[in-house]
Amino acid sequence: MRSERIVGFQLEEEALPSRLRPVSLAEFIGQEEIKEKLRIYIAAAKGRSEPLDHVLLHGPPGLGKTTLAQIIAAEMGVNIRISSGPAIEKAGDLAAILTNLRPHDLFFIDEIHRLRRNVEEILYPAMEEYKIDIILGEGPNAQSLRIDLPPFTLVGATTRAGLISAPMRDRFEVSFRLGFYSLDELKEIVIRSGRLLGIEVTEEGAEELAKRARGTPRIANRLLRRTRDYAEVKGKGKIDLEIARRSLEMLRIDEIGLDELDRALLDIIITKFGGGPVGLETLAAALSEEKDTITDVVEPFLLQRGFIQRTPQGRVATEGAYAHLGKDCPDRLL
Ligand SMILES: Nc1ncnc2c1ncn2[C@@H]1O[C@H](COP(=O)(O)OP(=O)(O)OP(=O)(O)O)[C@@H](O)[C@H]1O
Ligand SMILES: [Mg+2]
Repeated sequence: MRSERIVGFQLEEEALPSRLRPVSLAEFIGQEEIKEKLRIYIAAAKGRSEPLDHVLLHGPPGLGKTTLAQIIAAEMGVNIRISSGPAIEKAGDLAAILTNLRPHDLFFIDEIHRLRRNVEEILYPAMEEYKIDIILGEGPNAQSLRIDLPPFTLVGATTRAGLISAPMRDRFEVSFRLGFYSLDELKEIVIRSGRLLGIEVTEEGAEELAKRARGTPRIANRLLRRTRDYAEVKGKGKIDLEIARRSLEMLRIDEIGLDELDRALLDIIITKFGGGPVGLETLAAALSEEKDTITDVVEPFLLQRGFIQRTPQGRVATEGAYAHLGKDCPDRLL
């Protein structure tokens, strides 16, 4: 439907290394429990001169999984090698990466739930015993060759922890679920990013952007960048409450951070399907969106805000959804 959805998946600007990305645990705002545990595990591993145990990071997009992986490498003082589930096509590709790691290096696999089965199977002994078995030749003459790897840390990231196979999940010693950020944390992120981008943001301006960032740092930063443009062209180069409101209105992001796609989804469930339940396939077709976009990007926040519920029969709009869209709620929900 729209390719440049401001609250959606990665935009081009994020394919580049971002100067807004924190580079140390001290700079990383929020996720206090995760940071505290990481500090301990990192100090302990360093004290023993061992690689850090394998870490799984999961949670909705834009909450800082990739950022944390890079921070872990920096705090451990090791190199990071970055790949992703769909990018590793053959077992041989994985073997090439693993055999080229230096001791204690961090290997980051994004979208680890999309690893191919045959690749995943090579990864098991690599994670457990730092060894891989390579099959040479085919048929009755096939031979298995065992190769020792340098001790390394695997960090896996996924938005869909439920899709990771059980044997894979069991091989991560540490698993962290990143949650949505609080208003105060997002405000702090906006102010920090404003400083780095060289734009003045008032407390009220930052709060307004934070309120509409759906608990997500990536979205907070995006709203900030767009509002910076607006402030420079339409204002006096400062983001205050007034400029923030006008810019967000132009972006059609409402007071709680829902954009047109979110509202369209709620509206379709309510007006076309009598409030639901509606199956995912039907919903995706009605919105002309990918199913993954709906489950990974749109729904987590709508679920968290209590606007929809997932039932075995499909998605259902709640009383809150009717109220937010200003529609009369059917009696059965009251
Ligand atoms: N705790 C944080 N403090 C400050 N900025 C943050 C924080 N977490 C994330 N960010 C900012 O948000 C952006 C998105 O974070 P990141 O790319 O790490 O998310 P992700 O969880 O890997 O998302 P995806 O699932 O889409 O890969 C980063 O570029 C960074 O600038
Ligand atoms: Mg990422």
